[in-house]
Amino acid sequence: MSRTSEVLRRTGGRRMKSIVFDEETIARRVRELGAEITAAYPDGDLLVLGLLKGSFIFLSDLVREIERPIHVDFLVASSYGSGTVSSGEVRLLYDPETELEGKHILLVEDIIDTGRTLKRLCALLGQRRPRSLAICALLHKHLAPDPPAALRFVGFDAPPAFLVGYGLDHAENFRHLPFIGDLE
Ligand code: IMP
Ligand code: MG
Repeated sequence: MSRTSEVLRRTGGRRMKSIVFDEETIARRVRELGAEITAAYPDGDLLVLGLLKGSFIFLSDLVREIERPIHVDFLVASSYGSGTVSSGEVRLLYDPETELEGKHILLVEDIIDTGRTLKRLCALLGQRRPRSLAICALLHKHLAPDPPAALRFVGFDAPPAFLVGYGLDHAENFRHLPFIGDLE
């Protein structure tokens, strides 16, 4: 079975312009990120916070490459206002039960586009006096004029295209694809 027909089967007939990051490439980089993170936190409590829903596959692979004790929780954030342009305000729809004070917090995100949501989120979480606050993003589009200061771990530089798969969606579709593709 060819890759193209396999992709069409998985997407229900939607074509990809290209597969931008395949399974092996992603797995290799996630392994490296896990090692970077392990080395970056020699001590202290580390809470890995996945931003739902986009980070769910990345997070589940990443935490298995971190070779030190961690806790895992999730965040659901929503921007105030409507339309496609983010208003810059953020609200938590699900707040981790765990106390953040005194802990290393690692926020895990699928992709940084403008970075606006994450910046607001960092301001909000910073008020809870964590020991440190850092972001790990699988993809970075480099479109933000001033990316979040806490951005510390990046998987790949992403092309300025609309990417789907490995957690990333288009209207809630394609999150389950094991690769990251450029939607046609
Ligand atoms: P930002 O606040 O502008 O950085 O928006 C980041 C969010 O937009 C990500 O968490 C994604 O949910 C979404 N997003 C941005 N670019 C893409 C893309 O290429 N594919 C899928 N979702 C994207
Ligand atoms: Mg999304």
